[in-house]
Amino acid sequence: MPVAVRSLLTGLFVGLLVALLLPQLAPNISLSVYTSQGSAANHTPLPDWSSMAQVFRNVARNVVRGANGGRSGANYKSTTIAASSSTLLSRSSLPSPASSSTSKTYSASFATSLSNMASTQLTKNVLEAIKERRTYYQLNKEAPISDSKIKELTEQALLHVPSSFNSQSTRLVVLLNKDHEQFWDYVIDVLKPLTPEGSFDGTKQKINGFKAAYGTVLFYEAPEPVENLRKAFPLYAHHFGDWSEHTNAMHQYALWVALEAEGFGANLQHYNPIIDQKAAEHWSIPLEWKLRSQLVFGGRAGEPGEKQFQKTFGERLFVHGSKE
Ligand SMILES: Cc1cc2nc3c(=O)[nH]c(=O)nc-3n(C[C@H](O)[C@H](O)[C@H](O)COP(=O)(O)O)c2cc1C
Repeated sequence: MPVAVRSLLTGLFVGLLVALLLPQLAPNISLSVYTSQGSAANHTPLPDWSSMAQVFRNVARNVVRGANGGRSGANYKSTTIAASSSTLLSRSSLPSPASSSTSKTYSASFATSLSNMASTQLTKNVLEAIKERRTYYQLNKEAPISDSKIKELTEQALLHVPSSFNSQSTRLVVLLNKDHEQFWDYVIDVLKPLTPEGSFDGTKQKINGFKAAYGTVLFYEAPEPVENLRKAFPLYAHHFGDWSEHTNAMHQYALWVALEAEGFGANLQHYNPIIDQKAAEHWSIPLEWKLRSQLVFGGRAGEPGEKQFQKTFGERLFVHGSKE
């Protein structure tokens, strides 16, 4: 073989080796374009070699899984795709807080459970849970799951629900049993001087309906992460207020769906800001946190009301480019 051709081939081989091995030698380089320092995220474009090498490694890993038998049957393809994307997710999408051991454990178990689920099954379960979520006003003290499971659900929501620039600005205060009742007693106290005398009995009865439930999740937004984002990204400063509200709403919805998927009924209330001060004093909640809503949940003691649906296709839904 001529020397020039041999040198060219050697060069190509060494180049490929370096591309594959460099990321192994520098494991701390994040793959995400969405990384953060402390609470302020920054958009750092990645060096191309790093993301390319990760793609190679994922493909290689999936090929090896396939060769080893992996999962068989019709769902194999989607399962390996889920495994590949969840690998990326667990490594790159949980910036600074993921450095704690708890977060690592959860990101790992989340990735594992995703990779164990065929995507068709996942889609069906999520859609069913979305469809079954309703507003239940008649609630009682029966809990289909334990208090520890409720705590776990709320922590999982905090870890895995997205937030703008991964700000993680949402705070949850979960009130169960007597603390839940105390909260609604406070609501009655603060409403009394604000309600016309003739209608107070009706108001009290309504609030006692919430008190009859099992628990309440208070959804707050902390201003500090949002302020940090405004300072770090002045170009987007005017958006961060809205995005903080979106972030909070995503947590509300995720937990509403999750609690109902566990067998609770729930309804969403807004007794903020009149209740903020009392709640802050009693449960040592920082006054600067903004209470956004209260999700009341409990055993289902009645059925949700009939729901009217507006027309979707052509009025609320528009699809372009569909093949079927
Ligand atoms: C952003 C938002 C705010 C809501 N606020 C209240 C509220 O303050 N009080 C209440 O009883 N229900 C509230 N709801 C519940 C809606 O009235 C209810 O979701 C809607 O009528 C559809 O019924 P469904 O939940 O059974 O699907 C709210 C829902 C959303 C999404």
